[in-house]
Amino acid sequence: MKKFLKILLILFVIMIVLAAGGYMYLYLAFPKVSAATDLKIESTPKRIERGKYLANGFAFCIDCHSERDFTKFSGPVVPGTEGKGGFDLGEGAGFVPASNITQDKETGIGSWTDGEIFRALTAGVNKEGKFLAPMMPYTELNKLDKEDIYSIIAYIKTLPAIKNKIPEKNLKISGKPDIQNHT
Ligand code: HEC
Repeated sequence: MKKFLKILLILFVIMIVLAAGGYMYLYLAFPKVSAATDLKIESTPKRIERGKYLANGFAFCIDCHSERDFTKFSGPVVPGTEGKGGFDLGEGAGFVPASNITQDKETGIGSWTDGEIFRALTAGVNKEGKFLAPMMPYTELNKLDKEDIYSIIAYIKTLPAIKNKIPEKNLKISGKPDIQNHT
């Protein structure tokens, strides 16, 4: 009987080691994305106009990434807060505030390259290559036509800088995507 317990204990230890090893592998190896490209998007009035249309409705960028006034029907965006971030999209999966996507260099994305923004939108990682929570709909956005994504980027780069430091997210589910860069 003692021997049986000993074997059981050894098996248990092996299982723990394998599980920990597997977790470490997933943690270190993912998300597996390529480096951001040196894409440079020419900002034409036509692209900005198209991007404005797409980001303010169709692709919901501004709806998620701004302050909303829920005292009014359908919670319109509070004018002057476009891209400011902070709106919590966690909904039962913890606290997941939308990022500041204005041109502020410290608290927004003012220092990001076009390639890094494109990669965030299509592969779901931030400037440092860390995964973005799936509330940010990159799995849908990467189905858009490339030209439309370029227009959205050209437009969001016109959002005036707003200093607004977004607190760390606290996501209660694991979401490590493995989506390759599409450029
Ligand atoms: C349903 C809400 C939602 C929509 C729609 C949405 N986002 Fe996001 N976005 C988020 C959330 C939440 C995060 C933060 C994710 C995180 O911290 O892991 C985020 C993160 C980002 C980031 C990363 C910023 C950083 O500092 O890491 C960028 C860039 C971005 N969004 C741009 C956009 C653009 C452009 C669009 C429209 C094409 C868009 N988002 C649409 C919710 C949304």
